[in-house]
Amino acid sequence: MQKVVLIPGDGIGPEISAAVLKILAAAGAQIDWVEAEAGMAAYEAQGNPLPQNTLDLIREHKVVLKGPLTTPVGSGFRSINVSLRQEFNLFSNIRPARTLPGNHAPFKDVDLVLFRENTQGLYSGIERWADEEQTRAESIALITKEASEAIIGAAFDYARKHNRKKVTLVHKANILKLGTGLFLKCGNTIAKDYPEIEFEDLIVDNMAMQMVMNPQRFDVVVTTNLFGDILSDLASGLVGGLGLTGSANIGEGFAMFEAVHGSAPDIAGQNKANPTALLFSSMMMLDYLGQKDVADRIGAAILKVLAEKSNCTADLGGCRSTSEYGEAVIAAL
Ligand code: NAI
Ligand code: MG
Repeated sequence: MQKVVLIPGDGIGPEISAAVLKILAAAGAQIDWVEAEAGMAAYEAQGNPLPQNTLDLIREHKVVLKGPLTTPVGSGFRSINVSLRQEFNLFSNIRPARTLPGNHAPFKDVDLVLFRENTQGLYSGIERWADEEQTRAESIALITKEASEAIIGAAFDYARKHNRKKVTLVHKANILKLGTGLFLKCGNTIAKDYPEIEFEDLIVDNMAMQMVMNPQRFDVVVTTNLFGDILSDLASGLVGGLGLTGSANIGEGFAMFEAVHGSAPDIAGQNKANPTALLFSSMMMLDYLGQKDVADRIGAAILKVLAEKSNCTADLGGCRSTSEYGEAVIAAL
């Protein structure tokens, strides 16, 4: 039995986590869950959105499945998601987006894997007022050679291991000449070690357009933190929305798996959310834990269920609730 820390999360988190846990149990996953609190749930219960006990449990067990955590806009809170990624140096954020069977995807044959640098850039947390009247704000985008090489190397290693043909590096080095210029320079150097993989670089605004015009041309994509955040939501939109894209946050010895989406307060508590994104994340976790056979079984069941629109949740045009959809996946196992 593998111990995994479970953070059910805020908003739709508890609903989608419950559905995913049932499916994993039915599929025979060998996991011993250790539940921990973070986010608004922890703030309300313990007065701290990231309690020490949660950090200790993660340090002990090293693998986390996490529901979305709410970060109130304009509040004094730092994002707990960003804090967790930085605390455990989860430098590699891997976000696959693939067209699935069924009619929900606006684009056919998309199959890209986005690597987002996960610890720095504009998420470094270096912000300050430049004057006392608070009329000038400074937000620093820290980019280091070390972190750039780590994420770009991870993208190329993934491409080689999974027989992918091309890596696209996304930047804004025409304007952000030092920071994203350094990122691009690291890419140009590392690409030389992978001669069998095609390498290209694109400026981020052009990338956004190309992803909508011709998303099939992208294979592995690697970029800095904020660009990766935005482009991964865009990629989710290409294949049917945020209900369908999972992600892995990987560092040295630690890993945290979560959906790309947030806590969806607009539909929370209504048994309406699509648990597939968290389910895909949990399958990436099973693969990481050496239980790929279980992940593959769940993957096959999802494809069967999603192929019928009537089986789907409301975001995909169906009428199933979160729990009904979960039962349908279990029946298909
Ligand atoms: P969101 O991703 O929560 O929702 C965007 C839209 O997608 C909403 O209309 C929502 O209903 C829909 N949606 C998202 N997930 C869905 C699912 N599984 N099934 C069906 N529909 C789904 O983004 P939003 O509203 O900007 O952020 C809400 C909160 O989530 C914020 O506090 C934000 O900070 C937090 N957040 C947390 C993340 C994390 O924990 N990693 C990531 C992104 C946002
Ligand atoms: Mg995001």
